Parts: sequence; structure tokens; C-alpha cells
Amino acid sequence: MSKSIGILTAGGDSPGLNAAIRGIGKAAIGIHGFDLIGFRDGFRGLMENRIIRFDKDSLSGILTTGGTMLGTSRDKPHAMSVGGKTLDMRDAMLEVYKRHHLDGLVCLGGGGTQKNALRLQETGMNVITLPKTIDNDIARTDVSFGFDTAMTIATDALDRLHSTAHSHHRIIVVEIMGHRAGWLALGSGIAGGADVVLIPEIPYNVGTIAEAIRRRSRSGKRFSIVAVAEGAFSDEDAKKVGKAGTLKSKAKTKEDAKKAKQALAELYAAHTGNTLRLAAQLEELTGLESRLTILGHLQRGGTPSANDRLLASRLGTTCADLIAKGQFGVMVAARGDGTEAVPLAEVAGQKKLVPADHPWVSSARAVGTSLGD
Ligand code: F6P
Repeated sequence: MSKSIGILTAGGDSPGLNAAIRGIGKAAIGIHGFDLIGFRDGFRGLMENRIIRFDKDSLSGILTTGGTMLGTSRDKPHAMSVGGKTLDMRDAMLEVYKRHHLDGLVCLGGGGTQKNALRLQETGMNVITLPKTIDNDIARTDVSFGFDTAMTIATDALDRLHSTAHSHHRIIVVEIMGHRAGWLALGSGIAGGADVVLIPEIPYNVGTIAEAIRRRSRSGKRFSIVAVAEGAFSDEDAKKVGKAGTLKSKAKTKEDAKKAKQALAELYAAHTGNTLRLAAQLEELTGLESRLTILGHLQRGGTPSANDRLLASRLGTTCADLIAKGQFGVMVAARGDGTEAVPLAEVAGQKKLVPADHPWVSSARAVGTSLGD
């Protein structure tokens, strides 16, 4: 009897999701003869049994399209908002899985999705995942699809901002996505020749950045491009966040943990608007006019790059092969030109941050880019 497989996309969307759905689907239906159904809008569609039935034809024409044809949401199976309450809906999801006599469920998503997939695996479902996020911060994979496209978009923006910053002798601060990890800001900052790159892993000092910009002015370069990851912190704020984080991890009672979590959330909330404040501070400290550009969701929209289409396709077809072999409870990671099935338990809850000694960091410094430290 042929296998029945479910598929969903969860978390923030990302270029390459449709290419991955196509890769999995074409190999699953065309080569292995599986039945494939899609659940709409992430884990919510699984809970509510909202499905699409796939055949080979419904997978045509989507390789190059942005977004996800299945829709997505940031819902968590163990904490779903239902009728104004937050409920654990894993059993309801298991019931839908059984109702369709599924042999496996493919979840395409980022770090949060890897955790949620493991939670579903623990209910008895057979789950397999693919790594998707423009942030490139999923542990145990060389890269995630979406990252290359977003980095190309951010690089293009930096290129374009150069000429206008040059004409007006301005500082242009460019906010790039990435709350915890700086891969996108660092990669596009190097490729786009930003003069300053600020990432969450390296706390910055405003005075140091201003001095780097003044040094450029003294050498006749009267404009500067500052690429900032949205989660980059000043050294002062980083200390406060570090303290709150330690309090949270060392909390002995539930009450203390709750308080520390709240304090941390408040610090992150206060951080909103940080890049606007930074632009104003730099204007004051350097005497150069400054402007802020927030790239936001532009970085997630539109057609995936060739690299992302290729990555999503090869991870997708490998995923179908692993399902055929009955291998579940794993993420299909990218490893060099190949792939590796990594246990979900080793991925869930981990984050791939930029190490201080990463070659990209050394290279940025070597070409004279200030990292604000
Ligand atoms: O996780 C991907 C990401 O694009 C982050 O870079 C960004 O911080 C976040 O999602 C934005 O989320 P949302 O689309 O829910 O506003």
C-alpha cells in the first residue's frame, strides 16, 4: 500500500518554500508513489484539518514563486490560541494525522518549527523537517533556504543606498532582519561594502562607531553606510540583557523565572526603535546628517535566488527519499554539496550564532569595516 504524507509550512515565510514543497512533492508522488496532502497555515491548518490534495500537476509552476502556497502561521501546537484561551492542541493534531492515515508529516520551518516538530514527534507522529529561514540561524545545517535570497536583496539595497549617501554626504543606517543572529547583516554588509556592520553577537559602542565615521570624513569620505541587524545591542544594553538572561537561567522558583522572563521581554520591547535612536546619536556625534532605512519584510518577499531554489530542491528530494526509507525524527540538513539527517532532538532549542572568530568576522575587519566594538 502506498504511503500517505502530510506537509505544512510554519513560522515566518521565506523564499524557497515553494521550491521545497515542489521538490518533496515531485519526488514523493512521481518516484515513490506516495499520496501527499498539504495543511494550510502551519500547525493551525493541521489542528483544523484544512487540507489541499496534491498531484503532480498542482506542483508545477511554483519553483520560482515567493512565499508559501500553503500559507503559514506562527502557531505553536502546545500553546494554541483557541477561543480566547491558550491550549495544548497536540492531541487534536494527532487525531487529524490519524484520520488521514498519515505515515509521516513534513514540517518546513525555522528554529521554532524544529522545536514544535519534536513536540509532535513525541506524541507518536512520524515527523521530518527541512531548515528554512532568512536568518540562517538553525543549528546543525550549513545553511537554510531563504538566506541567500534575503542576503542578495539586502546587498542590493546597500549598493543603492551608497550613491544617495555619497551625493548628500550622509550617514545611512540600514536595519536588516535578524533578532538573535547577525548572519544576514554581516553577509550583506561585507558583500555590499558597508562601512560599519553591527550584529547581535558583538555589542557595539556608539562612540567607537562615531569615531570610525569621523576617521572616514577626515580621509575625504564624507558619507558612511551602517548596516545594523535588528537585534544588535549597544554594550550598555547588552549588559542589561545579559544580566536578565542570567537571572532567568538561574531562577530557583517558577515565580522568579516568570519575573526574569518579564524583565527580559521588557528590555527587548524597549529595544524597538533602536536603529532610529542610533541614527540620531550618530548625527549628533559626527555632525553628519543621518537617515534610517528599514528593509523589513522586503527581505522575505519575491522570487528565490538560484542558490535557494537549488538548496530547497535538493533538500526536498532527499526528504522524500528518507521518508521512503522510513527515516523520521530528523531534520534534513545541508552539508557541503550533500545532506545529512540530523536528529531533531539535536536541533531543537539550539541556535547557530556568528562565532567571534568566524572567517566572515575576520574578513570584515581585514577590509577595514568597523564592527562597532
Ligand atoms: O525569523 C525570520 C524573521 O524574518 C526575522 O528575521 C524577523 O525578526 C522576524 O522573522 C519577523 O517576524 P514577523 O514576520 O512575524 O514580523
